[in-house]
This record gives sequence, C-alpha cells and structure tokens, in this order.
Amino acid sequence: KAAEKGGFEHFMLKEIHEQPKAVKDTINAYVKDGEIVFSQVGLSDEQLKNLERIYIVACGSAYHVGMSAKYILESLADIPVEVDLASEFRYRDPKLIENSMVIVISQSGETADSLAALRLSKEKGRPVLGIVNVIGSSIARESDYVLYTYAGPEISVATTKAYSTQLVAMYLLTIQLAKVKDKITEEREAELLTEMATLPDKIQRVLEDKERIQWFASKYANAKDIFFIGRGLDYAISLEGSLKMKEISYIHSEAYAAGELKHGTISLIEDGTLVVGVLTQQALFEKTVSNLVEVKSRGAYLMGLTSYGNYAVEDTADFSVYVPKTEQYFMNSLAIVPLQLMGYYVSVAKGLDVDKPRNLAKSVTVE
Ligand code: G6P
Repeated sequence: KAAEKGGFEHFMLKEIHEQPKAVKDTINAYVKDGEIVFSQVGLSDEQLKNLERIYIVACGSAYHVGMSAKYILESLADIPVEVDLASEFRYRDPKLIENSMVIVISQSGETADSLAALRLSKEKGRPVLGIVNVIGSSIARESDYVLYTYAGPEISVATTKAYSTQLVAMYLLTIQLAKVKDKITEEREAELLTEMATLPDKIQRVLEDKERIQWFASKYANAKDIFFIGRGLDYAISLEGSLKMKEISYIHSEAYAAGELKHGTISLIEDGTLVVGVLTQQALFEKTVSNLVEVKSRGAYLMGLTSYGNYAVEDTADFSVYVPKTEQYFMNSLAIVPLQLMGYYVSVAKGLDVDKPRNLAKSVTVE
C-alpha cells in the first residue's frame, strides 16, 4: 500500500501531485505540432462547425467541470450551452434541438445517472460525446464519440487529477470549436494553445506553496460552516472547492454565487464564519470584493483566492492565497489546487479517512 502511494500519506495527496503530469498527458494526446488533432475522437471539423447548441450532463465534480465549461464555451466559441445534473436531466423531458450535441463527462464512465442521460439523448436522436477517463467503460462504449482524459487510475474517492484533465478536455474542445466556427483568429488560437501548455508548470508552482495552505487548514479544522463565493467562472471554481471540503472534512460548506448572497445565505454569517472568496476573473474582481466587504462587516473571516498581482485583495481579506496568472479561461486549473489542498489538510487535521470518506463511493453505479 505504502509503495502504491508513492511515498505520500494518502492517495489523494499523491493524485493532487500528479496533476501537472495528468494535465500534460491530456494536452499532449490532442495537441500535435501546435494544432489540436481530434482524429482519435472521431469528431470532424464539419460536425463541430454545424453545432448550434451543446448540452452538458454529468454528476458531482464532472458536473462542476460542465459549469466551468459553459462560461468558456459561450464566451470563446460563442455557442449556447446548457448544463444539467444527469439525475435531473434523465427524469425531465429535455428538449434537445436539432444540430445539437450532448456531452457526458465522467471519470469512471460508469455513473448510473450519466449513463441513463446518455441513453436518453441517443433515443432522442442526438449525438453524444463522452469525456471519459476509464478506457472501455460503459459511457465510453455507448458514446458516439469519445474524448479520453489521461489522468491515469484515480483511487481517492474525492477526485482531483481527473477533474483537472476534464477541464483540459473542455479547453481543447472549446478552442477547436471557436476555430472551426471562425470565432477566433489564428493568432488567438496559437496564444491560447501556448498558454495552455504552461499549465503543468504553473500547477507545480501552486503545489510548492502547500505548507501555507496546510497551516491555514489546521487553524480552520474545527469550523462548523464554510462558504465559498465567486462570480462567473469563479462561481464554478467555488462549487468544486466547496464539494472538496465537505466530502472529506465533513464540514458543512456551501458555494454561492456572490451576487446571490443577499437573497439568503448572508443571514448565516456570524462572527468568525470562514468565507472563501474566489477572485480570478479580472472583470468581476471589484464586484466580488464588494460582496466580501459585506460579509466581513457581519463578522466573517475572509480568505481571498486570486492571482499574483491582485494584491488589493489584502485590503479586505484576512488571509490571501495567490496562484500564477494565466489566461482567464484557464484560471480554474490553478485556483482549484489550493482548494483541493485545503480540503485535504482539514481532513488530515481531523484524523479522518481521507481516501475513503464515509457514505461515499468512487463511482455511483446504482441510482
Ligand atoms: C462520485 C465521486 C465524484 C465524482 C462523481 C461522478 O460522487 O465521488 O468524485 O465526481 O461520482 O463520477 P464520474 O465517474 O461520473 O465522474
């Protein structure tokens, strides 16, 4: 067992550290000589070009990748996107327009609800693209097209490296779609691909700061509630950060769209409540800061998560975490790492079974 963990105390920590490689392997599987090549996927440029809408369906963290992808696809590839939880999608009567495609995201390729959503989409005559990590799994076999992620086997119940590779899969798809639909110039495409290639090294840099997160996590290990807030892509990051925290630390946590706080959640803020503000999106920085000011005046203790350079966050946040700068669409890949580490270290500080949290399974194959 110890050997399998490669010297790490838990699979989760090992897998967190495998993210630079997992991301690199997934990029390298599809980017050849500075161009995205989808021959392995089977999707032609012509098919992509004709798409008028995308439906993304998934569960858990894969659903959060879908939430993130919606912002990126709509903004960069200018295509309407709907994101659904597979368990909801399968029991409503979704209207899937012609010239649309359904994307099912799944690490295991065996999640019962995601598989049911895939089958329903096919019954309705829509093509399905599976974004899957496990080769030959049910979702991979039944999808019309498969874009494999190359995270390698993931043991820890709480996903980290598979999530990170799913993000990359969505970046690749978005850039290719934007290109074939003439929504970006060749220069912009090259710029995006060059920046994407820097992500493994930048994730590595975030990992090097882990002691700071560990210190902070040990201080907050006894928290009763934690709130994660952000806007836009930062809201999608918050959703995943909150899930990581609750699933392995058993601390109640909620992700909230920062602008929605006033409609309920702000009533839960008490003296000392930890609020994590995610502020990676430059255009929304000031907006989220003003929400942080509001919760601080109600007594919240604030952690701000942003990129280097945004030091103004320290005017409001009590504790700040910085990640390297990258293209705004790729910020999730860097900002999620401190949040994974935070969940991990809180769980360790509480002496919990990090890799096998109570009541949870790696793959939910029954309803
Ligand atoms: C379980 C796992 C999560 C995962 C979700 C979806 O809840 O604990 O980490 O995100 O299932 O699984 P899938 O294999 O479809 O990605």
